[in-house]
Amino acid sequence: MLASKRILLIIGGGIAAYKSLDLIRRLQDRGAVVTPVLTRAAEEFVTPLSVSALAGEKIYRDLFDLTDEAEMGHIQLSRSADLIVVAPATADLMAKMATGLANDLASTLLLATDTPVLCAPAMNVRMWDHPATRRNLEQLQADGIRFVGPNEGDMACGEYGPGRMSEPLEIVAAAEAALGHGPLRGKRVLVTSGPTHEPIDPVRYIANRSSGAQGAAVARALSALGADVVFVTGPADVPPPQGVQVVQVETAQQMSDAVDAALPADAGVFAAAVADWRVASASDRKLKKSRDGMPALEFAENPDILKRVSQLADGRPALVVGFAAETDDVVEHATAKRARKGCDWIVANDVSPETGIMGGSENAVTLITEQGAEIWPRMDKHAVAKRLAQQIADALED
Ligand code: CTP
Repeated sequence: MLASKRILLIIGGGIAAYKSLDLIRRLQDRGAVVTPVLTRAAEEFVTPLSVSALAGEKIYRDLFDLTDEAEMGHIQLSRSADLIVVAPATADLMAKMATGLANDLASTLLLATDTPVLCAPAMNVRMWDHPATRRNLEQLQADGIRFVGPNEGDMACGEYGPGRMSEPLEIVAAAEAALGHGPLRGKRVLVTSGPTHEPIDPVRYIANRSSGAQGAAVARALSALGADVVFVTGPADVPPPQGVQVVQVETAQQMSDAVDAALPADAGVFAAAVADWRVASASDRKLKKSRDGMPALEFAENPDILKRVSQLADGRPALVVGFAAETDDVVEHATAKRARKGCDWIVANDVSPETGIMGGSENAVTLITEQGAEIWPRMDKHAVAKRLAQQIADALED
């Protein structure tokens, strides 16, 4: 339900704008209060009169409408909403959002807001597949923007493929999930992500190549299903998702302490690439070149966070998911790792150099559970995250 939730609906200029009229009704059926904003191009497809009649609310049309500015500034307009839905999100609107342009009311609202944003893209299949749109999509997802669709099918332009706007009821379901009404509502999920940095001295450290992209995508997907996510992250390349509780750490020991502080949780997803060793006695002064030759670094083993949490006698999450990066015999190694650590599932990645997965945008996953190995097709890291989050939701429901 969306009882008394305020939804700012930005209607972009595309043929799918007619579906937004039905969307207004469907959102209202769930109890939402819908304030529509029309772009100039949208007015070519639906009339302001029909939109305002349906919404029963004042609609907003242009940045420089002085009356609107006097009544409610665009910043306040964007922030007073619980959720902003952009439907249809055209290629043009997505490009503006991705680059931070603010040259009309819709794009200004989107730049000025700190409210969660849900986009329902709709465009010609070639436009959707174009590298520019791909880049914009990736950027927007990294910025924490949520997406529903597009669906695949016959398009108004006569072509077939992905690009059709999701149906109004699908958008309503995504809005409910964005507002924490998804299948993971009320569930607390802990996610570790990114690399750890293990200091050698105040200026040097040992690190690994993890970007934190997969962990961030998993946290975002869990949150999109309504989970209350605690995101414990090492120094990653990608920003943490919006709408989750972020705990920034640097070392494995700090990550371990942060995980302890975040428990109890219903599920734990350990996507971090934790350094197995640290420098036993990191120097508190910068190591200098000396005539005695190179410094000898001694290592000490770091706590194995996944193993420890998996084997907790008291307060173990109902579902513990580990990750494994393998270059060969993926199923065999990951199955052994699952048993060794005592976790429920292992998400195994094939990171052999020829796959291009390490540092890339795609992942090839084999999910190891008690039932055996499930080989997933190679897909985008966000798609992996969504599939994993859905399976976590299904498992916690049982
Ligand atoms: N992990 C952890 N704490 C550590 C080390 C690893 O929580 N100190 C977790 C990772 O987050 C990941 C899984 O354990 O979920 C990876 O296990 P690990 O044994 O480190 O995997 P690999 O590095 O792939 O191990 P191996 O060297 O055995 O291949």
